[in-house]
Amino acid sequence: MPHWSSLIRDIPDFPKPGIVFKDITPVLADARGFADAIDAMAAPWRDAVPDAFIGIESRGFIFAAALAHALGTGFVPVRKPGKLPARTLAHDYALEYGSDRLEMHADALPPGARVVLVDDVLATGGTLRAALSLARQQGATVVGAAVLVELPELDGRARWDVDAPLHVALQG
Ligand code: PRP
Ligand code: MG
Repeated sequence: MPHWSSLIRDIPDFPKPGIVFKDITPVLADARGFADAIDAMAAPWRDAVPDAFIGIESRGFIFAAALAHALGTGFVPVRKPGKLPARTLAHDYALEYGSDRLEMHADALPPGARVVLVDDVLATGGTLRAALSLARQQGATVVGAAVLVELPELDGRARWDVDAPLHVALQG
């Protein structure tokens, strides 16, 4: 097990009773842990670097921006509603706890851009599925996804019905 994986902590009953929250902030606070986690997430893309990493608000931003910097690509944000200033595309989705909507600037990606979707945690897969839909609405080619931690018991991977790899650095 990588050093950084021991830094992820479980917080029971957050944000609601019955939910065990994966808190990745101690990984971010640890210089070696953060660097090694980004290296692990970047490794699958080093031989075929995409045009952009798409980060999903909010924790996905942290990892996608670091990956974009590490591999020399652009970074594109997928945001929660009402945050982006220009014309947006929207997609509604179900969360592990509740529902939400994600938006992306309609002109964020040129058609055919090769993109990788990034988030910290894969739970039910609804968030990643929404980002996939937004990227595809733009005509981008989603070449894969990079997630720090997968919660296998929720089977979010089943919603990744794409002929492109979903790489996770750790099974949580
Ligand atoms: C959490 C997590 C993922 C998503 C995973 O984000 O960061 O984005 O849930 O859940 P899913 O696979 O069931 O969709 P959250 O919406 O809590 O917001 P945050 O990143 O802003 O903390
Ligand atoms: Mg999130």
